[in-house]
Amino acid sequence: DPLVLEDGYGRRFAYLRLSLTERCNFRCTYCLPNGFRKQPGLPAELARDEMVRAVRAFAHVGLWKLRLTGGEPTVRSDFDEIARDIGQIPGIRRLAMTTNGYRLAERAADWRAAGIDAINVSIDTLDPAEFARITGHDRLDEVVAGVDAALDAKFDAVKVNSVLMRGLTDGDWSDILAFVAERPVAWRFIELMRTNDNAAFHAEQRTPGEVIRLRLEEAGWQPLAREIGAGPSIDYAHPDFVGRIGLIAPYAPGFCDSCNRLRLSSRGKLHLCLFGEGGLDLRDLLQSDDQHDELVERILAAMPVKARGHRLREGISGSTPHLASIGG
Ligand code: GTP
Ligand code: 5AD
Ligand code: SF4
Repeated sequence: DPLVLEDGYGRRFAYLRLSLTERCNFRCTYCLPNGFRKQPGLPAELARDEMVRAVRAFAHVGLWKLRLTGGEPTVRSDFDEIARDIGQIPGIRRLAMTTNGYRLAERAADWRAAGIDAINVSIDTLDPAEFARITGHDRLDEVVAGVDAALDAKFDAVKVNSVLMRGLTDGDWSDILAFVAERPVAWRFIELMRTNDNAAFHAEQRTPGEVIRLRLEEAGWQPLAREIGAGPSIDYAHPDFVGRIGLIAPYAPGFCDSCNRLRLSSRGKLHLCLFGEGGLDLRDLLQSDDQHDELVERILAAMPVKARGHRLREGISGSTPHLASIGG
């Protein structure tokens, strides 16, 4: 029988988020407002062969969906090779990536050819000046062109991530409706999460996902059932729109009950939660193919301590300084 990874609450894990780097070329207000700063003394990023060994072990215990994250994963010069190698590992049925879209317009077709099946792109606003203010880069048009290039490249799914902050205007809302009216994408609003570095920003900007849910319900959008292996978004559909609108609401009660994902940081640590402690170092067991069985044992042994849920509502964000540190 194939092994299945299960925690102490009976949750099963099929989805691994693999962070390739903490580095990022954007400086989003809620994440890396001063840009990425190299911290002295941090261990090196995992090399491609270390990642391949890790993913082989996770595939052995039943993980079949893999998402490449960051930081910005595509700042790695070996990004295409990593995607190609990991997509070929037996058992990996779906390879996805999350990107800020900086290079997407030029690279979408190459990434599709390297074996990426699905792509999520961050766009917090469709107002060019606001986009430049939030990300530090006046590149909204290029990122939107990237989404269109991804649609042309025929990924199985193209989604947009949009962090919900104060001041979402009726104008913003109609821009977003027009965007999803003509594009088969899921536009997902994400409740701003408090991390150790953004507490003041969070206190000022947080906006409940309820605001979006009410707008959707008033306008006749219908919630859909979550697909098998999906992330945490609840998606809504409307007969007049080819695209969908989703809501990721980590502050909602019960959000963690359906958790199906684990994380491996670019420093080689297994994180059982985005907002947990420390992480379990796997790097010493990623050094040779002979260590496969021992690595599988270590992963299996880690599962029982996965906590029931995060404690964001109590203002506790564990050891997570910002989401770029463990891949969101
Ligand atoms: P798919 O549904 O497979 O497309 O993926 P996804 O939504 O899991 O991936 P993506 O990287 O686009 O993440 C979207 C947002 O959801 C990011 O802000 C993530 O940090 C957030 N997110 C994903 N998983 C979790 C989780 O376990 N806990 C919390 N609090 N947020 C999460
Ligand atoms: N709260 C919510 N979403 C965040 N992201 C980064 N930091 C936060 C935060 N504090 C989003 C990014 C990206 C996704 C992977 O995570 O905008 O779209
Ligand atoms: Fe970079 Fe993503 Fe953080 Fe923005 S949210 S600074 S794109 S890692």
